[in-house]
Amino acid sequence: MNKIEVIHTPALLPLYDLKGKVVVVIDILRATSTMCVAFNTGVNKILPVATPDECLMFKEFDFIIAAERNAVKVPGFDMGNSPFEYENPFLAGKNIAFTTTNGTKAIKMAKQMGPEKILIGSFLNISALCRKIKESNKDLVLLCSGWKDKYNLEDTLFAGAVIAHLGNDEFEMKDDAALSAYFLFEQHQDNLEALVRKSSHAERFTLLHLQTDDVKFCLQADICAVVPEMEGEFLVNHTPMASHN
Ligand code: MLT
Repeated sequence: MNKIEVIHTPALLPLYDLKGKVVVVIDILRATSTMCVAFNTGVNKILPVATPDECLMFKEFDFIIAAERNAVKVPGFDMGNSPFEYENPFLAGKNIAFTTTNGTKAIKMAKQMGPEKILIGSFLNISALCRKIKESNKDLVLLCSGWKDKYNLEDTLFAGAVIAHLGNDEFEMKDDAALSAYFLFEQHQDNLEALVRKSSHAERFTLLHLQTDDVKFCLQADICAVVPEMEGEFLVNHTPMASHN
C-alpha cells in the first residue's frame, strides 16, 4: 500500500522526507488552479520564480511575465494570478515566468528536497491528477501552499478530496494531517463553495473587490485534463488536453 501524507504549509517541509515520493503542490486559490488553466489553454511551459525582480529578467527572453503578491497583480507585469486571465487563446505556445505569494514558493521548496516527481493539483484537474498519481505507484505527499506559511482551509480541503478520490484500496493515510484533510472533505463535499467562501482568502478577495468570482471558478471539478509537472526548472504538461470547451 502506498502512503499519503499531508503537509499543511511549506514551513513544515523540514519535518518531512520527499525522496522517492510523488509530491502534489496545491494552491487552490489560486496558483495551481491558474497553472492548470494555462496549460489547458496550450501554454508551452511555466517557470516558477521566487521574486518579481527575478521574473522581470525573463521579459527579454520572450517570456510572458506574471506576478502576484497579496492576491493582487504586481504593477508592470503582463499578468496576475486569476485563472480567468489564462483562458486567453493568445497564450497558446507561450512561455510564462510566474511568481505568486505562496504557490511558486512551495513548488521551488519541494524541488530542493529531491522528490521523485512534482505534480500540480487543483479541483480543475482532479481526475487526471489522480490517474497520474495511481500510475506512479509511489508514496504521495500532498503539499498545501497555505498563506504565508500559515494553514489555509481550501488547500487542505482539496488534499482531502484527492484522498477520497484515490480510495483506500491502493493508498493508506499515514498521518493525522491526512486524516483531518479527508474528514474535512467528507463533511463538506456536498457544498464545498459554502465552506470555502468562509475562508480567509475568500475574505481577502472580498476586501479587494475582486471583479471575478475566482472562488467559484476554482472549485469546478475536471474542467481541465492536463496535469502540469516539473521537468528541470520548468512546469510542462505531457497529459493530452481535452478538446477545448
Ligand atoms: C498564492 O499563490 O499565494 C495565491 O495563489 C495567491 C493568490 O493569487 O490569490
